Amino acid sequence: MFTNTPKSYGLVTIVIHWLSAFMVIGLFALGYWMLTLGYYDSWYRLGPWWHKSFGITLLALTVVRLVWKFMNPKPEPLGSRFEQIGARIGHGLIYTLLLVTMISGYLISTADGRGISVFDWFEVPALITGIPQQEDIAGTVHWYTALALVIAAAGHALAALKHHFVNKDSTLTRMLVAKRSYPKNG
Ligand code: HEM
Ligand code: HEM
Repeated sequence: MFTNTPKSYGLVTIVIHWLSAFMVIGLFALGYWMLTLGYYDSWYRLGPWWHKSFGITLLALTVVRLVWKFMNPKPEPLGSRFEQIGARIGHGLIYTLLLVTMISGYLISTADGRGISVFDWFEVPALITGIPQQEDIAGTVHWYTALALVIAAAGHALAALKHHFVNKDSTLTRMLVAKRSYPKNG
């Protein structure tokens, strides 16, 4: 039920996948909207506060996700050999973009030596400061990796839909429902 098997994803993997998918889309939309706000807008400070709080939450969730991934069996990939290699590279790319986007976000926020308040609940300290032009460089990296991440995630979603509607295999359903076995499970 909770853990993965060689044929299926468990509840923990499924819940983390969908929580993080919603957070990535929400963070991108909020970040993009933040760019349009003027100094006197009431969301000028509130927007980044939510963005950074959820961003750090997603960073923590991703660390838990990676630890969980390495503690659990990986359900065997379905589809042709070409699709399996594509999925492997695609998932690796998504994890890399996720981590670089979040680390660059951290580096923008802490460039001036101030920590990050997470929902006004606790503060993540500024550990790396004083890199020349830290805020600008991290800001550029953040924008391009966030953009690449949502494009990669959109391609990834299309690939999942192709598995479901064209190949008619259980790739998508096993990421939606935690069951021990599926028809057409390879
Ligand atoms: C996958 C997660 C994330 C996504 C998709 C994302 C996306 C974005 C986008 C689209 C922008 C607007 C464009 C830009 O200025 O770069 C932005 C801005 C920003 N993000 Fe993120 N972000 C994520 C995580 C984080 C994290 C973890 C932090 C820090 C803890 C963070 C801090 C910031 C800051 C401070 C800005 C404003 C930058 C500026 O005004 O130049 N972000 N983010
Ligand atoms: C921002 C959005 C998303 C992100 C960041 C994301 C990320 C990921 C990652 C990293 C994996 C690999 C899991 C692993 O094996 O460690 C994965 C698996 C998967 N995702 Fe997503 N995903 C997103 C949205 C979606 C959407 C919208 C769909 C469906 C339409 C989807 C369907 C799937 C499926 C079916 C798998 C399992 C693939 C397999 O068993 O080989 N994902 N996702």
